[in-house]
Amino acid sequence: MPLPKAELHLHIEGTLEPELAFALAARNGVELPYADTEELRKAYQFSDLQSFLDLYYELMAVLRTEQDFEELADAYLERAAAQGVRHAEIFFDPQAHIARGVGIGTVIQGLARALDRSEEQHGVSTQLIMCFLRDQSAESAMETLEAAKPYLDRIVGVGLDSAEVGHPPVKFREVYEAAAALGLRRVAHAGEEGPPAYIWEALDVLGVERVDHGLRAMEDPELVERLVRERVPLTLCPLSNVRLRAVDVLEQHPLARMLAAGLLCTVNSDDPAYFGGYVGDNFHAVRDALGLELEQMRTLARNSFEAAFLEHDEERRGR
Ligand code: HPA
Ligand code: ZN
Repeated sequence: MPLPKAELHLHIEGTLEPELAFALAARNGVELPYADTEELRKAYQFSDLQSFLDLYYELMAVLRTEQDFEELADAYLERAAAQGVRHAEIFFDPQAHIARGVGIGTVIQGLARALDRSEEQHGVSTQLIMCFLRDQSAESAMETLEAAKPYLDRIVGVGLDSAEVGHPPVKFREVYEAAAALGLRRVAHAGEEGPPAYIWEALDVLGVERVDHGLRAMEDPELVERLVRERVPLTLCPLSNVRLRAVDVLEQHPLARMLAAGLLCTVNSDDPAYFGGYVGDNFHAVRDALGLELEQMRTLARNSFEAAFLEHDEERRGR
């Protein structure tokens, strides 16, 4: 039996497996520049975050209808449940779809069709977190928040993703203030490729409750001290870090040192279709590479529920 866990860092578009990509391409009459799934898989060799994002945005072209988003989410939830996930907080990237003429309502309502039956069908409770693309303008982010207003009851919070370096959190100060005023929770990717200063900014300027990745926090002892003191959760994604060359090999991943420092670490899959594994695979990989004990694995699972945006009774149920 896999350990019950919550997944808190998961881009739904990053769960698009090659087989589903080709099936949707055929159904929607979209031509992919790859002969077959095997050739597509061969393209999954990344040198950094941007080289991954190029393929990630390219493949999204196959996602066009509510049914597409429903099938995408359903496939993820089924796999996640099999790996012990009981609760998932799922990122989506509306700007990447709006840019292709797919409205935010199509995305949210399509995902909602799968999410609405997830507890019953898969035993997984769910939340949606809408991400802004940080390499697009602050105005575009604000327009996206405006477009999401009819669907706010479906969204628990906002996040910030895409190309990090050169796009510091402060760029999105106003849109995060507006999101907070709407009662939305706030998270942001910070310290994946960007410096520790971006983590400080995400906390101090954007008011985030949780830091996505936060990998580079260990370069700044004062920051570590603060994250420990305030029990700010970090949503680490070990296999992603290896595939995107943020760490050379899994054996050198700082997770064990971060746990030892008292940081509230969680383990997640990020974009599992691209990075070689779902969340349970990430748990097993770090256990084997870092020699983690069962007690540390239990701590990671317990942390995931503590860090989740769950009410207390739901949190207890997960433990
Ligand atoms: N980092 C930034 N943006 C992303 C990622 C990531 O790991 N995955 C999907 N969008
Ligand atoms: Zn991510």
